[in-house]
Amino acid sequence: MLHGPIRIVILVGSHGRGSNMQAIIEACVSGYIPGEVVGVISTAESSPALTWAAGQGIPTLVAHASGSESFDAALLSLIQSLNADLVVLAGFMKLIGAHVVRAYSGRMMNIHPALIPSFCGKGMFGERVHQAVLDAGVRFSGCTVHFVDEHYDTGPIILQAVVPVEQDDTAETLAGRVLEQEHRIYPEAVKLFAEGRLVIEDRRVRIVSR
Ligand code: GRF
Repeated sequence: MLHGPIRIVILVGSHGRGSNMQAIIEACVSGYIPGEVVGVISTAESSPALTWAAGQGIPTLVAHASGSESFDAALLSLIQSLNADLVVLAGFMKLIGAHVVRAYSGRMMNIHPALIPSFCGKGMFGERVHQAVLDAGVRFSGCTVHFVDEHYDTGPIILQAVVPVEQDDTAETLAGRVLEQEHRIYPEAVKLFAEGRLVIEDRRVRIVSR
């Protein structure tokens, strides 16, 4: 079990807006999360999220395949160089290789902007998710924080939040309502992890009291 402040590494996409990353960084700075974001990694130097993090004085790194080293090997060595206790995916678009996932099993999280196991999987990201929700006519959507396994959006679920789908919603208005909840439950999930309160039992995550 972890004690004291944990070392958090956040992975963001090459076009990442970084609002979940910001929510987690702010929650660390305010003391809500007993941890520190020790680095942000992206797949491109030009990532807006990376620029924002650098402006806060947080070390930023770019992972890319070079020479004989594969992308996953490069990513793993960057994460290891930062001595991460927890790896947080926030808008990171690439499927992470099995080798990296295994190295951080139970210590790597992602957030998905729908209620898993619906409206998720390969190719389900961004506006597509919310449009699929609207097209299906469901009354509720939401977001899910889960541990990462070797497939898209199938790892054990940590927290979910539900939002109503309104009659006149567009993918954009629905995305905004879901995002508000993302900014609430992602820091909460990281806090629970940092407090050592998440126990994975097969497919289920038990939240233990302090
Ligand atoms: C969020 O909607 C998240 O659920 C998904 O990617 C988006 C990232 O947004 N995985 P941001 O970069 O955190 O603003």
